[in-house]
Amino acid sequence: MAVSRRSLAIVLAVCCCYAAAVSPLSSADSTGDFLKCLAAGGLPSQLVVPWGSSSSVFTSIRTVQPICVVTATNASHVQAAVLCGRRYNIRIRVRSGGHDYEGLSYRSVRPEAFAVVDLASLRAVRINRRAATAWVDSGATVGELSYAVAKADPGLAFPAGLCPTIGIGGHFSGGGIGMMTRKYGLSVDNVLDAVVVDANGRLLDKKAMGRDHFWAIRGGGGGNFGIVLSWKVRLVAIPRTVSVFNIRKTIDQGAVDLVTKWQMLAPALPDELTIRAVVQSKQALFQALHLGTCNQLLPVMSSKFPELGVTRADCREMSWLESTLYINSGGTVTTPVEDLLNRTTSLGVFTKNKSDYVKKAISKASWEKIFPWFDAAGAGIIIMEPQGGRVAAIADGDTPYPHRVGVLYNIQYMSFWMDTAAVPDWIRNFYRFMEPHVSSNPRAAYVNYRDLDIGENAVVLGGVTSYESSRVWGEKYFGAANFRRLALTKGKVDASNYFRNEQSVPPLVTTK
Ligand SMILES: Cc1cc2nc3c(=O)[nH]c(=O)nc-3n(C[C@H](O)[C@H](O)[C@H](O)COP(=O)(O)OP(=O)(O)OC[C@H]3O[C@@H](n4cnc5c(N)ncnc54)[C@H](O)[C@@H]3O)c2cc1C
Ligand SMILES: *[C@@H]1O[C@H](CO)[C@@H](O)[C@H](O)[C@H]1NC(C)=O
Ligand SMILES: *[C@@H]1O[C@H](CO)[C@@H](O)[C@H](O)[C@H]1NC(C)=O
Ligand SMILES: *[C@@H]1O[C@H](CO)[C@@H](O)[C@H](O)[C@H]1NC(C)=O
Repeated sequence: MAVSRRSLAIVLAVCCCYAAAVSPLSSADSTGDFLKCLAAGGLPSQLVVPWGSSSSVFTSIRTVQPICVVTATNASHVQAAVLCGRRYNIRIRVRSGGHDYEGLSYRSVRPEAFAVVDLASLRAVRINRRAATAWVDSGATVGELSYAVAKADPGLAFPAGLCPTIGIGGHFSGGGIGMMTRKYGLSVDNVLDAVVVDANGRLLDKKAMGRDHFWAIRGGGGGNFGIVLSWKVRLVAIPRTVSVFNIRKTIDQGAVDLVTKWQMLAPALPDELTIRAVVQSKQALFQALHLGTCNQLLPVMSSKFPELGVTRADCREMSWLESTLYINSGGTVTTPVEDLLNRTTSLGVFTKNKSDYVKKAISKASWEKIFPWFDAAGAGIIIMEPQGGRVAAIADGDTPYPHRVGVLYNIQYMSFWMDTAAVPDWIRNFYRFMEPHVSSNPRAAYVNYRDLDIGENAVVLGGVTSYESSRVWGEKYFGAANFRRLALTKGKVDASNYFRNEQSVPPLVTTK
């Protein structure tokens, strides 16, 4: 009885996947063989499901949908997917939190048959309080990790991005910038070990991977060097009480002068204090996290940044866990910390994001020209995150993330709109306008703020893009030396370029 029900379910899953695979990309045979191979490899049929298009904001006709989704609940399922995918020429895209800005974890803009391996069910967090370390699975979110750490010990935390629904798998693969980056570095600066399924379906830890492979997975971009299942991280010490403020200033209230001063000041403040700046609707919002009390913070503000006029009434004390929600919400809502466990993202608007790094402060005269780009309707926004401190104390080549020494801050550009899926001109025009003010040769970008405008791999026969042609985008994300090392590492660990996407690192194999 149970057996026949299971075989029925397998047939259904196969049918669903056939139905979804309407494109001429894969023959029905290879799709069917792939699915049979998964079943033979021990994957229960109910874990192989059709793609639900409602879970994506990308509706463009250029988009190719996956033939099915493998919702792995065990490392062996991920291994089976890779082995079967290689055997039957079905590619794998891995999805942890699904927050990739270009949707590369679940859609393809090129004609290639692929399945998604969804890691959302592999999301345990195991904390070793005494050692101040944790193993976190890639399917966990930043919110789940933060919550688990703080519940185990409110004196511990982990430096990562602000948005609680970001997936650990993609986030750590690209770096991980947040409000504690200046004090403790990026997320990847605190990764001690990892477990990865490589292109041959093997399960490898740090030792088995070897030096280059372990280097590459800590910031070299997701979807390149295998599927990372879990990460061992070093937890960091924080006080029980932190303080925050959110101060908004209009142009009339001096926003231009404040942003101009902020540029040199914020990267040089004590590492315990991070003030990020957001410009929208001709206003500047300054958001601060201080790892200490208001009594400690207020004298620092009045001596270093008196123009901002922070008063005791502006300063709020709370736990670090509460501060993550407070800052993420723009300081307007306070919600129970259990909201950090909510994995649902609200998909209401279309957005397009881009990024830059600034090494030389932008003049006040230029800021006066920048502010008018932000109209009252507020459909464009820039978020600027100060660097310096710990992140700049690590050499550019120690991890693939190269934007360290000499960087004042990064800029994230974002535009949003409601009615159509076409990107409005605003963001690309503004990005062009900003060119003389930001880093150059190359103009740098952050891989976790994925942007296909800066370049895509050429589609070539056999799928192996050349290293030369991918340098146009690769060196923006990683710098020339790191990108070359990434490509050489790819050549060693995935020479046939099995894991690939529109911006994947191509294998570079030198003959000597
Ligand atoms: C609302 C929002 C806020 C954000 N805030 C910040 C922030 O404050 N700081 C910051 O640094 N970034 C931030 N980001 C960017 C975020 O770090 C990246 O989008 C990140 O890649 C998302 O990870 P994910 O697992 O959710 O994405 P996914 O879409 O699942 O994956 C992203 C990429 O990594 C690959 N990948 C996923 N899992 C794995 C894995 N286990 N092994 C190997 N490759 C994998 C995917 O195939 C894809 O190419 C934000 C993004 C959003 C949408
Ligand atoms: C995966 O399966 C193996 C073998 O059945 C088991 O030992 C292991 O605990 C499972 N892992 C998870 C995360 O469920
Ligand atoms: C752009 O960035 C914002 C803020 O980080 C985020 O909410 C949005 O989802 C991003 N856009 C895309 C397409 O992911
Ligand atoms: C989780 O978040 C979503 C999106 O913001 C929201 O609609 C939903 O109500 C939340 N669920 C819970 C249980 O709070």
